[in-house]
Amino acid sequence: MCGIVGYVGKNKAIYSLIKGLKTLEYRGYDSAGVALIQNGEIISIKDKGRIDHLENILEYDKFTGNIGIAHTRWATHGIPSKENAHPHIDQNHHFAVVHNGILENYLELKDFLCKEGFSFSSQTDTEVVPVLMEYYYQKDKDVIKAFQHTLKDLRGSYGILIITPLLPDTILVAKNNSPLVIGKGCDGIYVASDVPAILQYTNYFYFLEDGQKAIIHDDVITFYDSKFHEISKQSKKIDWEMDAIDKNGYEDYMLKEIHEQPEAFKNTLNGIISAHEPIHFLEFSLDKKYLEQLKQIYIVACGTAMHAGLVGKYAIERLCRIPVIVEVASEFRYQDPILDEQTLCIFISQSGETADTIAALKLARERKAKTIAISNVFESSITREAKYTIYTHAGPEIAVASTKAYIAQVGIMVSLALYMKEVLEGVNDEIIALKRDIIEIPRLMEEVFKNEDMFKELAHRMSKETDLFYIGRGNDYHTAMEGSLKLKEISYIHSEAYPAGELKHGPIALIDKGTYVFGILTDAQVYEKTFSNLEEVKSRGANIILVTNQDIKGDNVITIPNIDPILSPILAIIPLQFIAYYIAKEKGLDVDKPRNLAKSVTVE
Ligand code: AGP
Ligand code: GLU
Repeated sequence: MCGIVGYVGKNKAIYSLIKGLKTLEYRGYDSAGVALIQNGEIISIKDKGRIDHLENILEYDKFTGNIGIAHTRWATHGIPSKENAHPHIDQNHHFAVVHNGILENYLELKDFLCKEGFSFSSQTDTEVVPVLMEYYYQKDKDVIKAFQHTLKDLRGSYGILIITPLLPDTILVAKNNSPLVIGKGCDGIYVASDVPAILQYTNYFYFLEDGQKAIIHDDVITFYDSKFHEISKQSKKIDWEMDAIDKNGYEDYMLKEIHEQPEAFKNTLNGIISAHEPIHFLEFSLDKKYLEQLKQIYIVACGTAMHAGLVGKYAIERLCRIPVIVEVASEFRYQDPILDEQTLCIFISQSGETADTIAALKLARERKAKTIAISNVFESSITREAKYTIYTHAGPEIAVASTKAYIAQVGIMVSLALYMKEVLEGVNDEIIALKRDIIEIPRLMEEVFKNEDMFKELAHRMSKETDLFYIGRGNDYHTAMEGSLKLKEISYIHSEAYPAGELKHGPIALIDKGTYVFGILTDAQVYEKTFSNLEEVKSRGANIILVTNQDIKGDNVITIPNIDPILSPILAIIPLQFIAYYIAKEKGLDVDKPRNLAKSVTVE
């Protein structure tokens, strides 16, 4: 989950390390640290807190070396503290290590090393790595052999960088189930856990695969496979522009990313949906015979991506009449899912690095289901694991709370449903009408943006609340779930989403005088029933805020453009994103980096 950066080259390492960490802070932000090699020894500084704090306490003049590693942590083992912050260094000051992931057998290794007379100063799993390196180094006096032996002993997930004064100008790199990417710039070689950290130095990247290692020595990178045989690797080009990772004048990434949604949607569906051409996906095709024999489809994802999956289920079942099960990725394996060649499994993940989703994907492959990944990150782990990948082209999403990636995921899911219908039945009027609606969506989103001041005002009124409710039926319930998650994540206000008809079966007991309830009402077919449920809570004193495309007048009514209910979540979520954002701002919270969370959740 953490952010890792490494640099070796002609320049002072400290500047690119800190800059890289700042770009990666969304991956973890409970503590941070750097280590450099300088004058034949390791120099390091680390502390609890954010990168800004690290920058305040570090004296740039003292960090002059041109090789170093850095880390911003999302604690898994041991509280956020100075001792547990990375880099971790062995007692003889030979090896400095940064690590992303979880070492499952660390207790066993720690026990063994303690018996061998080594001591530890942190509660982390990571610290076994420098200590093991030192243990093996003492045996053979050979750093590379120590690296090989150490990696053989590790079980779990890791992206690891190691530096040592014993091999100056060298970074040892290893990857297993945690992302690592290497880029060659004009003045040095950069390593990071995510492309944005080093995007300003190059557009060409080497993506390490699980089990692969690299040894970077000066300006030469040597790659190895899992058995430590030398291999050659091709770099891949990433077309992201630098300004995609700037705030571009917005106060926060989240606000910028909400505003980027029309563009993200357009870019994602460009080339897939056009008014008169059949729908097609560059990456794969599904034929009629295959679709006719399909028994069911699974959609598997976490959090917001799972909510996009629910909208996808609604679209596929309504349009294609193929049964769809949406499963939270962390639960998928434990439900012992019934999978075979007649099952299609779709995995949605913005980051493409979510450990729960990857584990579920591996199981689906083992059980012979056809797998499609939907991801926003080129060459991410999920894309390499799945048989096919459809990319959302939302551009880098930096804020922890997902907005534009969600819109893009929903766009892909609805297009996929339409594509399957087109393959099964040929083009018909319903498909043409939906395609037209899809093409109109970016413009309709801009219409919703025009009410931003009203959303801000509503947020102002709600910012002191402690409990909020979101209700809806059908696809509106899916929007309610996503709206509620956005609020929880960034404002820390407790909220619940319920199917509108379910309230009276228990949760209505929570409704008190003045409780705010969002009613999402975009499907004319369920309008009257949902409206009755809202009346029920209103008569118990609740304040109702309606998000609707129906012609309803009133103070607390947010009107959005009318569109087919299959697509309405794309417009209905926007006011809820804004309201969550402005409530968090009113409370003075760090919107982009909410407490306890990280952007990519690379642990199970
Ligand atoms: C979204 O706002 C959340 N931060 C979270 O639920 C996220 O969607 C989830 O962790 C899945 O991430 P992924 O799309 O990168 O797999
Ligand atoms: N497991 C390590 C720790 O707790 C690394 C966590 C991370 O990926 O940030 O320190």
